[in-house]
Amino acid sequence: MNTMLKTLQFHAETTETLCPTHHIPLMEIAGHRLCKLCAKETVHHSHAAYADELQQRLLQQKIRNSGLNKRYLDRGFKNYVIACPAQDNAIKLCQAFAQQIISGHYPNLLLIGTPGTGKTHLSASIIRNILHNSTKSARYYTSAEIAQKMMDT
Ligand SMILES: Nc1ncnc2c1ncn2[C@@H]1O[C@H](COP(=O)(O)OP(=O)(O)OP(=O)(O)O)[C@@H](O)[C@H]1O
Ligand SMILES: [Mg+2]
Ligand SMILES: [Zn+2]
Repeated sequence: MNTMLKTLQFHAETTETLCPTHHIPLMEIAGHRLCKLCAKETVHHSHAAYADELQQRLLQQKIRNSGLNKRYLDRGFKNYVIACPAQDNAIKLCQAFAQQIISGHYPNLLLIGTPGTGKTHLSASIIRNILHNSTKSARYYTSAEIAQKMMDT
């Protein structure tokens, strides 16, 4: 092990050249001139980029597992059209509902409306809002799926 470590040790020498960014002397290591702080920043940035990427992958995985039908994956609060006061009221209640869940409360919400009036659109918006803005999980179940789950127990 010691021999291994020794072979990995590079001889580093301080040069007279300054890093244009950090104004500290560059080191010469194995024929390369580099700045310690630049090197540290590069490592830090690549760690941060990796953490971001993991976070994004986790989010995409959560969305894939949310039970939402594919056609609702792009339905959000942003593209819910408000054309009457009732829709304005509905979206505000749904946004507040999502926010309450994100803040750790356990509210209930019942959406009633004739077919095609945007109940599932708003439900998908709530689910995605929670997944994007918290570490909580959110899932879409139909009543038939819930009944099936109960019968399976
Ligand atoms: N206010 C709205 N703004 C934008 N799109 C809307 C709006 N209302 C409904 N839609 C769109 O119309 C379609 C039907 O809406 P949705 O499936 O949410 O209705 P629903 O109330 O769940 O109907 P159902 O009772 O049949 O389940 C969807 O594509 C949805 O995105
Ligand atoms: Mg629906
Ligand atoms: Zn530097």
